[in-house]
Amino acid sequence: MWFFRSPSIIYGEESVTYLNDIPQRRIVIVTDGNIVKAGLVDIVRKELPEDSDVLVIDTVPVEPTISYVLSIKNKISGFSPDLIVGLGGGSCMDSAKAAFATYERPDMDMHDITPLVHLDLRKKSRLILIPTTSGTGSECSWASVISDDDHGRKNEFASPEIIADFAILDPAMVSSLPESVRKSTAIDALTHAIEARSSTWKNPYSDIFADKAVELIASNLFEALDNSKNTEAVANVHIGASMAGLAFSNSQITLAHSLGHSLGAHFNIPHGISVGIFLPHVIRFNYSEAKKEYAEINRKFPSSIRKRYLYLTVESFLEVLKMPVTISDLKISKKEYDEKMESMVSLALESTGTVLNPRDAGRPELEKLLKEIE
Ligand SMILES: [Fe+2]
Repeated sequence: MWFFRSPSIIYGEESVTYLNDIPQRRIVIVTDGNIVKAGLVDIVRKELPEDSDVLVIDTVPVEPTISYVLSIKNKISGFSPDLIVGLGGGSCMDSAKAAFATYERPDMDMHDITPLVHLDLRKKSRLILIPTTSGTGSECSWASVISDDDHGRKNEFASPEIIADFAILDPAMVSSLPESVRKSTAIDALTHAIEARSSTWKNPYSDIFADKAVELIASNLFEALDNSKNTEAVANVHIGASMAGLAFSNSQITLAHSLGHSLGAHFNIPHGISVGIFLPHVIRFNYSEAKKEYAEINRKFPSSIRKRYLYLTVESFLEVLKMPVTISDLKISKKEYDEKMESMVSLALESTGTVLNPRDAGRPELEKLLKEIE
């Protein structure tokens, strides 16, 4: 027996106006200082019912930790909201999910947020997520990535009960982002779709969302980057990214994420860049085991971009976007990279993406892939 899990999705221009008619009146917005500065909190507040009381928590750090979530849990409990809104990129939405769970169940240890424990949430509030990047897919997923306080290790707390009640995909929330962020987050989304389509947990529902995600992102990204006023192109990339989120959330990712997480953790590289750099190498490595899936995805790229094989298509897509392709592009020295090789391999070995990759990969294979970007 399998499940396909998703929030209710409200999308398209002015979809944030959905907030006009919500029944809740005590509302906490979990966000960060940059989102406030960009005026996006004001946009959301303006749409909330006039008679609502709103508490804005705008302190989400780039890498939220367990102690951060517990600190905002206390503030949230003091306010007693009936709605929590996560507004921002992955860190803000993941913090909102974790804060929602701990507010609902103050007696619970965060490590109890697993698919195996019935949490019995939604006794006090509901959760709405509004992404301000087109990439992480966190608005659609049942995971919340929160670091340990001591050694920065990233925990992926996951439960179907922390899936948002509603995800709002409004293109106005992403059109003012810097180009570098729009590029790297879109590559993250593209990687989610391609990996969801080829993981060993792939299924008919995730396949459909992955295929459409690639089509929407590949056909609209260049126009969305060149002309952020083209709302249709921006909205299509935004919807594509959330579809990629639905795809991988329901089927998982593969080696590009295992290696990318490891590279990112060792050298502090933005997530989309660190997974994208491995994507063509991983596709080439997996080709014998996922030939059919990769050929089908390749056909979703516009003919103007498409090459004979998916890894060549992805390579040229990254080249047009001027994305980093080697460690020297990332300003990492070969000496330091080699020194951290063993540790990077060890971390990548522990990842779900390695377990669910269509081709078996052990220590030698992961090391070889890591060396391909030297
Ligand atoms: Fe990702």
